[in-house]
Amino acid sequence: MANKSLAKVPESTCVLVTGGAGFIGSHTCVELLNKGYRVVVVDDLSNSSKVALDRVRQITGLSADDARLAFYECNILDREALTRVFQENEIDAIIHFAGFKAVGESVQKPLEYYWNNVAGTLVLCSVAREFDVKNIVFSSSATVYGEPDFIPITESCPKHEATNPYGETKSMLERVLTDLYKGDNEWNVVLLRYFNPIGAHESGLIGEDPKGIPNNLLPYVAQVAVGKLACVGVFGDDYPTPDGTGVRDYIHVVDLARGHVAALEWMGGKVGTGEAIGIGSIKGTPAEDGTRRGVGIFNLGTGKGSSVLDVIHAFERACGHELAYEIKPRRAGDVAENYAACDKARDELGWVAEYDLDRMCADSWRWQSTNPNGYAAS
Ligand code: UFG
Repeated sequence: MANKSLAKVPESTCVLVTGGAGFIGSHTCVELLNKGYRVVVVDDLSNSSKVALDRVRQITGLSADDARLAFYECNILDREALTRVFQENEIDAIIHFAGFKAVGESVQKPLEYYWNNVAGTLVLCSVAREFDVKNIVFSSSATVYGEPDFIPITESCPKHEATNPYGETKSMLERVLTDLYKGDNEWNVVLLRYFNPIGAHESGLIGEDPKGIPNNLLPYVAQVAVGKLACVGVFGDDYPTPDGTGVRDYIHVVDLARGHVAALEWMGGKVGTGEAIGIGSIKGTPAEDGTRRGVGIFNLGTGKGSSVLDVIHAFERACGHELAYEIKPRRAGDVAENYAACDKARDELGWVAEYDLDRMCADSWRWQSTNPNGYAAS
């Protein structure tokens, strides 16, 4: 029933990062390595590239054989392979990103989404438990709030039914991880609800590399800017927002990555009071070594909403030329406005987002213009 203790320095703490070759995962590896943590990446490369990890080494000054960053190409559904990862590494905590993430595709392929995201997480947690690793940070999403009851959205804003299987997997997994704690109070769980991650590392070496035509606004705008796509479709200009286009809380991926490191330190009892633990009647209690036990839930956003047109204009400033756009009908399932209250993450994790929209677009442009085909040509 024990749990690995996080009451130690980063240099002797080993973090398993599932999905560590992906967009948010690779940026989180950089921030962990910068802080001195040891990192083991598990990624099946189904929507990511091994080149991203070479770039992570380049950014952090690690040689190819430096043991501080290890990589296993495997899917989290593969129990045998995962078991080997835990046998070969003294893992202390997990940051769990691995999962399918395309909203539209999830409607077409619900079975694949539930299987990969939900069953995969069950396998991961069950293997982790065998090795007494019960510290987990989970990559959740603001999508769990559905049509939010109020804005800015606080963590106590009620969850609503998701409008697609992708969102449902996030919501279900929040539930699963919460129940793990309810059943065994040794678990130490953090659910991070991301708003809209964009941007790239300032080096221009890692960034978002979507397959095919992007679904999300920022990668679409970036590909118009670089000449790969002709024109941005703006989905609706008749929302009850200042300029009529949808408003979102865009957050720089490096800020988001740092939020994960802060969550890890919070789990280890190194920051915060622990008052943020507890949902409803579930109250966490700290362990004897001062590390936390419970379920901590945090929004990670900037607290500032930007419209689709704000984003297009910020990107025009970044790339130095005008971008073609055209108003299109609303996209089904979109809400008018969505931005976070981030007071809880600030007060407990000691974390605040530092970068503004102009910086997000400047970094995104640096990545896009120097890697127009993502990692493919590398
Ligand atoms: N938009 C356009 N044109 C595009 C793409 C998007 O106008 O080509 C608009 C959307 O209508 C919305 C805004 O840009 O107003 C942002 O859209 P994104 O698709 O970039 O992001 P979403 O807010 O829809 O989705 C994000 C994440 C999901 C998550 C969801 C809910 O991508 O993973 O937030 O929190 F589920």
